Amino acid sequence: MSVSTIFCVTLTLTLTVTQIEAAADIKSVVYTRKENSRVEVLQEVPLCLNGTCHGGRTTCVLKCITHAQCTGVNFRASDRQCMGVARSVYDFQSNIQADGNWENFSPDAREVRDGDWILVFRAQRGMDVSSDYDGKTLLAWNDDTLRSDDTLNTLDPDCFTSLKGGCPDFYRSRWLSTWPSGQIDKVRLALYTGGVLDVHMEFNGTGSSRHDWYHTDRLLNSSWTDLVPGDPANVLSLNGHLTNDRIFIATSTSDENDCNQMGWLLVINNIRQQLCPYDKKTALILPSYDSNVPQFLFSKVSHKINFYEGTCDCQQA
Ligand SMILES: *[C@@H]1O[C@H](CO)[C@@H](O)[C@H](O)[C@H]1NC(C)=O
Ligand SMILES: *[C@@H]1O[C@H](CO)[C@@H](O)[C@H](O)[C@H]1NC(C)=O
Ligand SMILES: *[C@@H]1O[C@H](CO)[C@@H](O)[C@H](O)[C@H]1NC(C)=O
Repeated sequence: MSVSTIFCVTLTLTLTVTQIEAAADIKSVVYTRKENSRVEVLQEVPLCLNGTCHGGRTTCVLKCITHAQCTGVNFRASDRQCMGVARSVYDFQSNIQADGNWENFSPDAREVRDGDWILVFRAQRGMDVSSDYDGKTLLAWNDDTLRSDDTLNTLDPDCFTSLKGGCPDFYRSRWLSTWPSGQIDKVRLALYTGGVLDVHMEFNGTGSSRHDWYHTDRLLNSSWTDLVPGDPANVLSLNGHLTNDRIFIATSTSDENDCNQMGWLLVINNIRQQLCPYDKKTALILPSYDSNVPQFLFSKVSHKINFYEGTCDCQQA
């Protein structure tokens, strides 16, 4: 089984009550078709008798729009099978299955949601493989021309859901280009393996920018018991270790050349800098040499670890 760690930074929006009520008044919703795909049905929302809608796609979608539990539909044209689904294709937690017999209709969306959170950045191991220039993850983070959410309806769902690993591109939302924003409340950085949340940190987004939110002073909480808000001994830095090209670092030592450094997270941005064993390859878990970057090195236990090869309870993926 191949496991891919997905590096996702999501942020929340505060919506006022007025906005929520206004949204409930909207009667007409545009559903866009994604061919050859179906959203995994955890609990089917029954729409037509015996699951067959004799009126075809239109009936199937119309039944969905009037059903409180229905968000989108999977439709099989050959026998007009119509399955109501509670989740949209644009739900971060959805499992989108490629299936030539099915098509999915979900309401048009301008962003990928995970409950109240909006996905703003997503990366996974090995995205730099086709490129030989350094620091692609940081370049993607800062590239205002990259607006994946503008083409959400045609984008491969593997590129914006938590589960799948087969996406060759970064997902970057327009929210990164309009930050600072008075609407940004909290920021979450999370790592998922095989769709399951591994570790996360939450930050206070009020008054932040996309360059300064990742800071110990802004930390609200984390999934590690010893990474707590406001500890001045810890280094949380997005640009990270410049010389050794590690980014999004969360460490408790400030010497970047210390290969025994303690911490929670290192994102290896570029393997050309080979000072420490963990900079060179995925030596810890993966069996063979692997030059793909970014790579994510993080503590799998409840506390910080020594990143040195072979001695840490960590995952490198
Ligand atoms: C639904 O299925 C039942 C049992 O298989 C069958 O008796 C019935 O005729 C079906 N109804 C329709 C409308 O196809
Ligand atoms: C976030 O920061 C703002 C501005 O400094 C502050 O007013 C607010 O209380 C903070 N929120 C949390 C949850 O700490
Ligand atoms: C972090 O705080 C938020 C509320 O601000 C809470 O919902 C979440 O469960 C907390 N996470 C942890 C790991 O404590």
